[in-house]
Amino acid sequence: MARSALTGKPPLLEMHGIDKSYPGVRALDGVSLSVQHGEVVALLGENGAGKSTLIKMLGGAHQPDRGNIRVAGEEVNIDSPAAARLAGIGVIFQEFNLVPELAPWENIFLGRETGFGFVRRETERWRAAQLFQQTGVDVPMDVPCGQLSVAQQQIVEIVKALSQNARLIVMDEPSAALTTQEVACLFDIIRDLKRRNIGVIYISHRMDEIFQISDRVAVLRDGQLVGTAPTGELDRKRLIEMMVGRNIEEEFPETTRQLGPARLVVRGLKHAKFPVGLDFEVRRGEVLGVTGLIGAGRTELARLIFGADHLVGGSVTLDGTPLDIRSPRDAILAGICLLTEDRKQQGLIMGASICENFGLPNLSELSYGGFVRGRQERVACDSYAKRLNIKMSHSQQLVGNLSGGNQQKVVLAKWLQRNAEVVIFDEPTRGVDVGSKYEIYALINELAKQGKAIIMISSELPEILGMSDRILVMHEGRITGTIQDTAAATQEQIMEFAAQ
Ligand SMILES: Nc1ncnc2c1ncn2[C@@H]1O[C@H](COP(=O)(O)OP(=O)(O)OP(=O)(O)O)[C@@H](O)[C@H]1O
Ligand SMILES: [Mg+2]
Repeated sequence: MARSALTGKPPLLEMHGIDKSYPGVRALDGVSLSVQHGEVVALLGENGAGKSTLIKMLGGAHQPDRGNIRVAGEEVNIDSPAAARLAGIGVIFQEFNLVPELAPWENIFLGRETGFGFVRRETERWRAAQLFQQTGVDVPMDVPCGQLSVAQQQIVEIVKALSQNARLIVMDEPSAALTTQEVACLFDIIRDLKRRNIGVIYISHRMDEIFQISDRVAVLRDGQLVGTAPTGELDRKRLIEMMVGRNIEEEFPETTRQLGPARLVVRGLKHAKFPVGLDFEVRRGEVLGVTGLIGAGRTELARLIFGADHLVGGSVTLDGTPLDIRSPRDAILAGICLLTEDRKQQGLIMGASICENFGLPNLSELSYGGFVRGRQERVACDSYAKRLNIKMSHSQQLVGNLSGGNQQKVVLAKWLQRNAEVVIFDEPTRGVDVGSKYEIYALINELAKQGKAIIMISSELPEILGMSDRILVMHEGRITGTIQDTAAATQEQIMEFAAQ
């Protein structure tokens, strides 16, 4: 058994020779991984590489076919979530496990109630409030979790693991739904965990974060461990190479945009949560970037235009024609589509196949000539799957069995195939690996080239800067800054507007 050179103690975690197969897929192939006390190990790899599968073995969600796991030198059999908790392992899964009807504090203590009645509830609520305070993020305590934003739900998951006094905390893409500022809070939390000698496994597709927070990286490719190295010995280029097995020179595809006249003109757009109406327009062939902190109103803006939220006032015109959009159906018919940020709730049906999901927004068009269209659709579906590098055995596979990033790509493909005039992307590359991000950017460029008007909402500032012709920065339901010259703009400039 390997012992830490410094302390002579066995490592906090040793996974040895882990194999796991699903029907038709060898998800893990002899993977070994160790984590020292107080060490942050970043687990990296392309979409479908096996990261989530590996940590499901730690959370007791699935069992390995072969291999063993030791915690602090003791072999453990993690055959249930309760067994994981007992072994001192807290896992925050990529798709949350919160009960939507319960409040944050109720979710945190669910199944571990500390007593009975009013006193217990008050104690738990108080303890939860304290833990939330430590995270520095504002989460309403008494609102059902289902009504919280993705970011707030993420924080609830983290607090839940913290409340269980875990020795090892495993986070599967915790930052995917967080903005820059919230990621900074998360990193403060992780540094604090390190000081308390807690080990962390951190999964993320954001390279910057890996360099900021991890001590060591471990890279998976096609279910095998490619290698592990101290983060300080690697640079970005080398890391990407380890992940994708080839060299990627540029992260944003080269393009020149030809901007035409304004297509989408928005005047006095008013949401119940906005203090004022919003005015902006999107030109032909333009990518309008929209950014801000969580709660800035970016998603509400998108949902208003798409008819998913109730419009309190204002007007939207497309190519000079006033639109009267009262539902997403109206929006789709008018040529507007929205790629949502929350694939599980709004984007996909997990129990349906990739191909069925792909065809979903087109059901009305499918009502006649179903067979012919069905076949056409399969061809289109396969071609998008190839283009976006969706890792699947075949297009009849259930979406629920795809890895998180590959699910996101199905949502993208589904909307991209529609011939919409206005395309709104809400966090288009969340959870998507570096290689596939490039492909998504190339597709967005292609839409712009076709003369569409594009709104791209994103929290990833490099992406906002790299892709937008113009940037709107929002704060608490207002537009606090408009950046015209995106080539000269900086992340700091955006952050200043965002925090106003
Ligand atoms: N329940 C399942 N049934 C069948 N196949 C599965 C199941 N869960 C995962 N897989 C397959 O196992 C492989 C690894 O998936 P996994 O979710 O571990 O990837 P990942 O590295 O976490 O990717 P991502 O970055 O997209 O989250 C994928 O090919 C996936 O389709
Ligand atoms: Mg995953």
